[in-house]
Amino acid sequence: MLFKPLLLFSATSIAVVTAQFETLRFPCSQLVTERLDPLVTPGQVSPHLHQIIGGNAFNITMDPAIDIGATSTCTTCRFKEDKSNYWTMVMYFKARNGSFIRVPQRANDGTGSPNGGMTIYYIRPRPPAKNLSVTIFPKGFRMRVGNPMLRNVGWALTHPSVNQTTFRCWDGTGIGPGTPGVGALDTRWFPKGPCRGGMRTQIYFPSCWDGVHLDSADHESHMAHPIGTPGPEGSLMFGTDCPTSHPVRTPLLFTETVWDTNRFNGAGMWPEDGSQPFVWSMGDPTGYGHHGDYVFGWEGDSLKRAMESQRCMTSLPANCDALTIQTDAEINKCMLQTVVPEVTEGQYLNKLPGCNPIQSGPEPATAIPNCDAASTTVSTPRPTPQL
Ligand SMILES: *[C@@H]1O[C@H](CO)[C@@H](O)[C@H](O)[C@H]1NC(C)=O
Ligand SMILES: *[C@@H]1O[C@H](CO)[C@@H](O)[C@H](O)[C@H]1NC(C)=O
Ligand SMILES: *[C@@H]1O[C@H](CO)[C@@H](O)[C@H](O)[C@H]1NC(C)=O
Ligand SMILES: *[C@@H]1O[C@H](CO)[C@@H](O)[C@H](O)[C@H]1NC(C)=O
Repeated sequence: MLFKPLLLFSATSIAVVTAQFETLRFPCSQLVTERLDPLVTPGQVSPHLHQIIGGNAFNITMDPAIDIGATSTCTTCRFKEDKSNYWTMVMYFKARNGSFIRVPQRANDGTGSPNGGMTIYYIRPRPPAKNLSVTIFPKGFRMRVGNPMLRNVGWALTHPSVNQTTFRCWDGTGIGPGTPGVGALDTRWFPKGPCRGGMRTQIYFPSCWDGVHLDSADHESHMAHPIGTPGPEGSLMFGTDCPTSHPVRTPLLFTETVWDTNRFNGAGMWPEDGSQPFVWSMGDPTGYGHHGDYVFGWEGDSLKRAMESQRCMTSLPANCDALTIQTDAEINKCMLQTVVPEVTEGQYLNKLPGCNPIQSGPEPATAIPNCDAASTTVSTPRPTPQL
């Protein structure tokens, strides 16, 4: 998605798209990949593996009182001011002999050469949403979307959450038609057949806030998706209004991750029983456990300045003179060393990191008791290998 991010029908010029679809779009490379989740399991080694991007104040615990925008000394994001952290699960390929290897990532369209990571979007609401102004996330704000234990989508197709996490199975002809999440190549589950052009995964965070809580016990209930009837682009994320329980519209945070699944499409690599071979790091072969986490950490009022600048909201970082642009070399250099002593990538593993046997559902996955995987961090960290 370059100039026509989520616009399917008639993206003819940048100007038109800018008017209809305003987004700040930029890549952030990988900061570290390890079993930490300071939102869900603060102070502990997390049950499953995550890829984390953003500022280097990321830690096993992240006290909301700490100003991470001021604490981070570098960030993997294209804009130097974005010291936020974003994380999501990691994809593995399961070989016929039952061993697993991390699926490498690729740069997204028009994002340069970040080392892995994700593409981040901050999107403004648009008509027919009645209130088009947004409230920028306050310091200390955090949220999560999706549930790692899910192994089916119980929601009706009209439920506002139903398309919050999705897959696009690229057919090899380009970025594919339609709005992410509702396009012709998109599914809510792992694609059932090989994707000739690789796979892109997509997450819409909720964009309606209760206006009070920086976080909530489940990291979700202080937020909600807009409600109503999807507009012509087929998704209700952009142009519908917030529910009265969560009346404050924030920027719509959307992420994309591109997986180089192609290299596993060779003859004899897919399972003989016709099933698909990819799994999320929670042992999820269905895809429904897809989830993402966000800890706001923009410096000062920089996100507000960017979202008020028409030049920044064109999806091209080079246009954005309200923020400081970093080169690929700069973002790729910002890395944290892993502190959980285990090998997670670069070779075939006989099991997924943590205690994550494959659980296919449809009932929710359950935690494995008496897990014997690494549960403490070490003080002599290893560097995260390059992807
Ligand atoms: C992470 O937290 C530990 C203690 O919980 C602290 O010793 C360490 O300095 C922190 N690291 C960073 C990068 O802030
Ligand atoms: C399992 O299969 C992979 C891919 O073919 C191979 O690289 C790996 O060595 C195999 N592992 C074992 C233990 O046989
Ligand atoms: C979810 O996506 C499907 C297409 O896969 C679409 O039919 C449905 O209307 C969408 N629902 C919402 C609430 O966006
Ligand atoms: C419109 O949204 C803004 C930002 O969320 C909020 O401050 C304002 O009160 C809203 N206006 C109305 C009329 O709801």
